Amino acid sequence: MFESLPTPKPDGIIALMQAFAQDPRMGKIDLGVGVYRDEAGRTPVMRAVKAAELRCVETQESKSYLSLAGDQAFLDAMGALLLGGAVPAARVASVGTPGGTSAVRQICELIRSARPEAVVWVSAQTWPNHAPVIAAAGLKAQPYRYMDPARGALDHMGLFADLEQVCAGDVVLLHGCCHNPTGIDFSAQDWAEIAALLARRGAVPFVDMAYQGFGEGLDADAGGLRHLAARLPEVLVAASCSKNFGLYRERVGLAMAIVPETARATLAAALAGLSRQVFAFPPDHGGRVVSTILGDTALRAMWQAELEEMRLRVEENRRALASALHAKTGSDRFDMIAQQRGMFSLLPLSPDQVAQLHADHGIYMMGDGRANMAGLNAYSVPVCAQAIASVLR
Ligand code: LMR
Repeated sequence: MFESLPTPKPDGIIALMQAFAQDPRMGKIDLGVGVYRDEAGRTPVMRAVKAAELRCVETQESKSYLSLAGDQAFLDAMGALLLGGAVPAARVASVGTPGGTSAVRQICELIRSARPEAVVWVSAQTWPNHAPVIAAAGLKAQPYRYMDPARGALDHMGLFADLEQVCAGDVVLLHGCCHNPTGIDFSAQDWAEIAALLARRGAVPFVDMAYQGFGEGLDADAGGLRHLAARLPEVLVAASCSKNFGLYRERVGLAMAIVPETARATLAAALAGLSRQVFAFPPDHGGRVVSTILGDTALRAMWQAELEEMRLRVEENRRALASALHAKTGSDRFDMIAQQRGMFSLLPLSPDQVAQLHADHGIYMMGDGRANMAGLNAYSVPVCAQAIASVLR
């Protein structure tokens, strides 16, 4: 049966994780997978998460099945965190998913069930798993221009020229904040222009929100999504709690469809039906931890404070690396790192230079130059700046 089964192409991020783990060199530096690290290089269980887990263990009396959508308290709490009351709850259908990846997949499945011919427009630089997930769901992906490499900033003209080509019923995938891999986010004005364009073209935005809280703050990072939700009849959302709750391996995500009130019940049933075909019930533990935190004033304050510490640390790493690179290279080509947001920046390096950083200096980043700013610390910033300057010579 399996004689002709093709071996899948390895996922670049996972391959990098494995290569880093197997590298025996002392002083190797991991700027690969999108995981937050503290100054000591650890990815700690967040304080509020630990406290909420203890509370769940003490109070939970059953682990019997819930509904296909998962725990309603989690769905409500996440709806409020994402949408901040921008739309009435009667317009929102959502289900819990095992992580943000399966939220993306379930939304793609939903699109295919509703409109198999829909094209999913994706920023030219994007999370490497977007295209495979879209293709696996049987949908066609089409790139739109996003980054101007010369400036390390948004290619505003290219973006809007390409989005003018979207057809009614197409879907446009947008990173809610902390664009992965460029770190280049939309301004409020960009979001307003995108909303107007999509409304005019009759296309549906699909917001992937994987880093809420790591850009400008929890509410500011959801500003674009809230703007779209308030202005467009249909908005799709995939959200992840991996990064902002540090719940990576627990797999906590949410797939959401914001639709006219009359369509909500159909969408809720469609999403639940799709869950039933793949994993039936979403995992409960991580979602319960999230709803426990968001539903308790003290735990929520503790979580927000720690998330803010994490956000500020990444911002500080950005400033430190930009300034060290400026000093070492004598050029401003890396200054944009300090302006970009979230975990990633796409460093202007060739694949050969990235390979040299890996081989000669034990610095791991994606082949296209994507580097995780959360992986830096006071020790590695000067080491990386020196190494990058040396491969540029
Ligand atoms: C990343 O982009 O590195 C993270 O989102 C982890 C993943 O699942 O790819």
